[in-house]
Amino acid sequence: MRSSRSPYARRATTAAGTLLALSLAATACGQQSEGGSDEKKGSAEDATIGIAMPTKSSERWIADGKNMVKQFEAKGYETDLQYGDDKVENQVAQIENMISKGHDALVIAAIDGSALTNVLSQAKDRDIPVISYDRLITGTENVDYYASFDNERVGKLQGQYIVDKLELEKARDEKFNVELFAGSPDDNNTKYFWDGAMSALKPYIERKQLTVRSGQTKMSQVTTLRWDGGTAQKRMDDLLSKNYGSARVDAVLSPYDGISIGVISALKSTGYGTESKPYPVITGQDAELASVKSILRGQQTQTVFKDTRELAKQTVAMTDAVLNDKKPKVNDTKSYDNGKKVVPSYLLDPVSVDKSNTQMLVDQGYYKAGQLK
Ligand code: GAL
Repeated sequence: MRSSRSPYARRATTAAGTLLALSLAATACGQQSEGGSDEKKGSAEDATIGIAMPTKSSERWIADGKNMVKQFEAKGYETDLQYGDDKVENQVAQIENMISKGHDALVIAAIDGSALTNVLSQAKDRDIPVISYDRLITGTENVDYYASFDNERVGKLQGQYIVDKLELEKARDEKFNVELFAGSPDDNNTKYFWDGAMSALKPYIERKQLTVRSGQTKMSQVTTLRWDGGTAQKRMDDLLSKNYGSARVDAVLSPYDGISIGVISALKSTGYGTESKPYPVITGQDAELASVKSILRGQQTQTVFKDTRELAKQTVAMTDAVLNDKKPKVNDTKSYDNGKKVVPSYLLDPVSVDKSNTQMLVDQGYYKAGQLK
C-alpha cells in the first residue's frame, strides 16, 4: 500500500508548484497569469509521457501509438513516442533516454518482457511510474499497472473457433489434421494465448480426433521469434514438405495475423487455395486490415479483434490517475504475476471475427467500409 500521497503525485505537485511559483513571479512583474493556481494543481501541464512501442512492422502498434498520443494530448500531456524496431537494445536505450530527459511516466509495450529490469530500476530511482502496455513486463517490481486484453480468452477464442468450424462435437468420428503455431517466446502473452487455445484443442488431440502430423505439440517447439511472418512461412513450408505428402492440413492455429499471412503464403505455394484443395481453417489476432481483407477473400478464416482505441483509453486513464494521486481502475488483481509481484491489471474483452461479422469493424468505426473493399 502506498502512503496517502504517492511519490508520483508528488512529482505532479512539484511540477504544479513550480508553475505556481513561476506564475506568481510573472504576476509580480505586472503580467497576467493564465488561470488560477488551483487549476494547475495536479494538472497535466508540463508533464511528458514516454511511450515505448515495439515495432512499426505491424499496423496495430502504429495505431496503438497514435491513439495514445492523441488521447494523452487531449488531456494536456506532452508525449514522446518511440519505436524499438523489434530490437531489445534499441528499446532499452529509448527508455533510458526518456528517464534521463525526466519524463513523468512511462508506458511500455516490451519487445522482450524480461529485459527491462535494469532500466526500470533507474525509473524507480527517479520516481517515474511505469505502465505495462498489452505485454506484461516481467522479473521486476518496478511496474505499477498493466493494461491489456484477457489474453487467455484470446487463445480460447482461436482454439474454440477451430473446434466449432470443424464441427468436432457434431461428428465425433470425423478426423482432421491440425498444425500449431505460438507467438514469440520472449513475450509474456505467448503462453496465455497458448494455454487458452490448448484448453480448447487438447481434448480433441488426446482423443485423436485432431492429429498433429508434425508431432510438434509443445509450446517450446512451435514459438515464432518476434512474431515474424517470414519465420512462420519457413516453418509452415517445412511442416508441409516433411509431413503432408498427399495428406491435407485442415486447420492451423495461428496466434497473430502476421503469422497467419506467412502460413497462408506457404500454403499457397504448395497448391492450397483451389476448389479441390481449399485453405484450412486459419485463425489470427489483431484484425489487421490485410487480414480482414484476407478473411473476406476466403484465405484467413478468423481473427481476434482487440480495439486498440479502448486499450489506449484505459492506459491513458490509468497513467492520469497515478500522476494525480488517484487509484487507477483495475479489474484483475490475481492473474498477472510477473515473477516479482502480481501486477494490478485492467483487462478488456477480445472479440472473435470471421466473414460473418467483419461489418462490426465498420459499424464501430475501426475501419471505413471502403478500406475493406
Ligand atoms: C502480442 C499482442 C498481439 C500481437 C502480437 C504481435 O503481444 O498481444 O495482439 O500484436 O504481440 O505483435
